[in-house]
Amino acid sequence: MTEGLDRRQFLGQTALGAAGMTVLHSAVARAADDEPRKVVIGVMGMSRGRSLATSFAKQPGVEVRYVCDTDSGRVETGASAVEQTGAPRPKVTGDFNDILNDAEVDALVCAAPNHWHAPATIIACAHNKHVYVEKPCCHNPYEGELMIQAARKHNRAVQMGSQRRSSPTVQKAIELLKAGEIGRVYAASAHHAANRGSIGTGKPAEVPENLDYELWQGPAPRTPYVDNRIHYNWHWLWHWGNGELGNNGVHSIDLCRWGLGVDYPIKVTSSGGRYAFQDDQQTPDTHTVAFEFPDRKMITWEGRSCNGHKDDFVTFFGENGSIVIKDDGAIVVYNKTDAVVLEEPGNRGDIEHIEDFLTAIRTNQPLKLNAEIEEGHKSTLLCHLGNISQRTGRTLNCNPENGHIIGDESAMKHWKREYEPGWEPQV
Ligand SMILES: NC(=O)c1ccc[n+]([C@@H]2O[C@H](COP(=O)([O-])OP(=O)(O)OC[C@H]3O[C@@H](n4cnc5c(N)ncnc54)[C@H](O)[C@@H]3O)[C@@H](O)[C@H]2O)c1
Repeated sequence: MTEGLDRRQFLGQTALGAAGMTVLHSAVARAADDEPRKVVIGVMGMSRGRSLATSFAKQPGVEVRYVCDTDSGRVETGASAVEQTGAPRPKVTGDFNDILNDAEVDALVCAAPNHWHAPATIIACAHNKHVYVEKPCCHNPYEGELMIQAARKHNRAVQMGSQRRSSPTVQKAIELLKAGEIGRVYAASAHHAANRGSIGTGKPAEVPENLDYELWQGPAPRTPYVDNRIHYNWHWLWHWGNGELGNNGVHSIDLCRWGLGVDYPIKVTSSGGRYAFQDDQQTPDTHTVAFEFPDRKMITWEGRSCNGHKDDFVTFFGENGSIVIKDDGAIVVYNKTDAVVLEEPGNRGDIEHIEDFLTAIRTNQPLKLNAEIEEGHKSTLLCHLGNISQRTGRTLNCNPENGHIIGDESAMKHWKREYEPGWEPQV
């Protein structure tokens, strides 16, 4: 706690500070006539992307000009959802190049599956578009490094969809940690629980008429269509997905990394497996990973995808107490004897994260994003390293300068993927 300030004063000041900054920031984003500069966007992937498209459409000064999906049914539903907000019906397309080739489009929002995130972002930056890319920012570590290069080369705002970075209560929890509220913070734990069922055993099948499977696969090497993967279950197959660690783990691990003030790990150890069901799923449903960092700090992740019993989303452990961030952005501060000293409801930051992206575009400050791609990459990399440790069955030793795996060439083979010919991303 800041010397000489009582808690109420301190919290008041930090809250006021954050609010004051927001007012200042958005004042810059508005033109002299007080109308926010128009931002034109196209959204790719109409499941998560449908909710992003409607949220963007509700923002002042935003035109959702395109919705895009390789599933012709989903793209129409997406367009209708945008229209229902009172905005004009966007154009529908199955090909994201239509978005990129429109010179008036400022930004691509990518909520396609993970194997698309980096290739779409890199191509979009080369077309001078800003990018809001869903988490995990990439399918493998190599792609994350390329995304940073692409953002820098083209001076684009690239925001990862880890929206809790923009939640006011989560920001307050991080400010408390940095201000020394619980003393030196040396550990953080992250949890995820869900009640997912089995994905069964897939059978080769005809590609459904409504799906452009060629473009759905895009950068990923071609595989015959199987009936239990699309939509959504691709998350649980390494060819396209990153398991629960890359799906939900990245949200909480990102907060752990932020609050602890750490970048790259020195050691990563994973255990777990597909324990709840025996089926086509390759990624663990029961998973524990420990990440060790320089200066005596660690993060642990525990994910159980097939049992709904919930532990706290994120807990920080310090010399003088603990701070919990709940899944919904609520925060709880405990003192050394584990008594609650502060409790505050919160939110996940969904709208604030979109506002933050729009402000970075309008003020031409691409690096001033709450989840700028370099931070997105570092947090996503932890998930990739956890998965690589799981797949190799070994502890990984890493270079704390860049997270690269040291002395294990076969583990480093997972650093990058094979691409469908013609799709190798290039910056
Ligand atoms: N930030 C969050 O809270 C949050 C929440 C949910 C999902 N997500 C992320 O959003 C992404 C999508 O997840 P989902 O649950 O919506 O998956 P999903 O499989 O249900 O939907 C993906 C959609 O993308 C479409 N698609 C595939 N290739 C495309 C292409 N080339 N162009 C346009 N559309 C294409 C598919 O047809 C499908 O409709 C994932 O990366 C996921 O991690 C983030």
